[in-house]
Amino acid sequence: MVKICCIGAGYVGGPTMAMIAYKCPDVKVVVVDISTARINAWNSDHLPIFEPGLDEVVKACRDKNLFFSSDVEAHVADAEIIFVSVNTPTKTRGLGAGKAADLTYWESAARMIADVSKSDKIVVEKSTVPVKTAEAIERILTHNSGGINFQILSNPEFLAEGTAIEDLTSPERVLIGGRETPGGKKAIEALKAVYARWVPDDRIITMNLWSAELSKLAANAFLAQRISSMNAISALCEATGANVYEVAYAIGKDSRIGHRFLNASVGFGGSCFQKDILNLVYICECNGLAEVANYWRQVVHINEYQKSRFVNRVVSSMFNTVSGKKIAILGFAFKKDTGDTRETAAIDVCNGLVGDQALLSIYDPRVTEDQIRRDLALNKFDWDHPQHLMPSSPSATLKQVSVVMDAYQAAKGAHGICIMTEWDEFKTLDYQKIFNGMEKPAFVFDGRNVVNVEELRKIGFVVFSIGKPLDPWLKDLMAAA
Ligand code: NAD
Ligand code: UGA
Repeated sequence: MVKICCIGAGYVGGPTMAMIAYKCPDVKVVVVDISTARINAWNSDHLPIFEPGLDEVVKACRDKNLFFSSDVEAHVADAEIIFVSVNTPTKTRGLGAGKAADLTYWESAARMIADVSKSDKIVVEKSTVPVKTAEAIERILTHNSGGINFQILSNPEFLAEGTAIEDLTSPERVLIGGRETPGGKKAIEALKAVYARWVPDDRIITMNLWSAELSKLAANAFLAQRISSMNAISALCEATGANVYEVAYAIGKDSRIGHRFLNASVGFGGSCFQKDILNLVYICECNGLAEVANYWRQVVHINEYQKSRFVNRVVSSMFNTVSGKKIAILGFAFKKDTGDTRETAAIDVCNGLVGDQALLSIYDPRVTEDQIRRDLALNKFDWDHPQHLMPSSPSATLKQVSVVMDAYQAAKGAHGICIMTEWDEFKTLDYQKIFNGMEKPAFVFDGRNVVNVEELRKIGFVVFSIGKPLDPWLKDLMAAA
């Protein structure tokens, strides 16, 4: 029986290892984590992350060939293949702060592997890491190896949250990078044999270590770049009367461009796009490639611009002040079908509105009040550094915020509604009922192209939808200003 251990029971480690265990009943998979609370949750009826289809996969193999444990060292020592799927956040201080990847968690995992290993191991980078990380890891592992052979592989993960199980069941590609030595090639084959149980051979791509590491950063940078490109065009659409969704449809018909991932929005969020692009920027700078760094930095810059443009639109539409006005925030997760709020655009929009003295009433079907309050109290980039996480404090910001149980409660007595996440339930709300209970004029600011603009305008709402022709009300207001 092949023994696999994965360090890091997070959004990647949990689902990816569950899928390996599910597809390979003769492989023993143990997922370990320093967070006992997380491990306990993986062993309970309430998994620590929400992901459609995940419960079924975990339940099918948990305690058979899939185990979750806090006994990190014992399981690492016992395994032949060790995946490392720990967080690799943006550094908040020191050299490269605000850009470079913080490899503290990775390095401590590597040192622990070196300390406890008594037999040869294949160590797999599952986390997204800067190019050449494998070289540093190799040094740490081999420094005091005592004759143990470590082979490092890069096997970046491409799943997207909300569709993780679908993505893992039929991945478009599995990437494995390794050393071009006999030992490296053997390790690649060993890992390939695991995926080959369910992934067709032509989708398992092998290459050199640095290409694999860089491909992951480049893939995220390209995806994010598409969104920033559409968001840049959305601003021009609003200024000219064009409709960004018609433009996206037209350009997406060109098979060289393709139609996916062209939805303009209030801004991309999630734990990785911004972090990985900033990391790419930093690597370019370190290699003396200032122009290349500046090129990629613009993708993040447009994303920041899009969020602040949204806040400005809300404030300027509501007679240049939202002070003391109740505003409903519908959705807080960074996309639908997940409870994940890491780098969600909602945080910046809420903080922007609170800065202008608005009173927010927030509703998300999957995010807890505690999480929302913590997110709004944290400094940028601090969310992924557990040592900076503090209990929610009664700061001024938090007094202006209430978290409620449904969209109707959020909108009752509000002057405006901001839609921050494209949850399906927001498409089918009774907007007439909502309108009746709101202050007038009643505004809807749709950051996710969720509502039917014409229908809402017929009800009487003033509607702003990213990248769509402006509401006549807003046009008149701008002309008068
Ligand atoms: P996460 O924060 O959800 O999980 C990381 C886990 O690692 C945490 O539970 C933490 O307690 C644990 N950990 C940290 N140091 C440890 C140590 N020394 N020993 C044991 N456990 C330790 O992060 P995630 O979202 O799963 O992301 C992990 C990596 O995968 C990141 O590099 C990320 O960029 C990459 N990635 C994430 C996604 C995604 O959708 N979230 C997709 C592809 C790639
Ligand atoms: C993204 C990538 O899609 C995955 O391939 C990658 O593995 C992962 O990052 C990672 O490395 O962490 P994820 O962040 O889970 O996955 O979700 P996406 O579907 O990519 O959405 C990211 C953000 O972009 C969301 O806020 C989403 O609403 C936004 N988005 C997406 C748009 O604004 N417009 C679009 O057309 C698509």
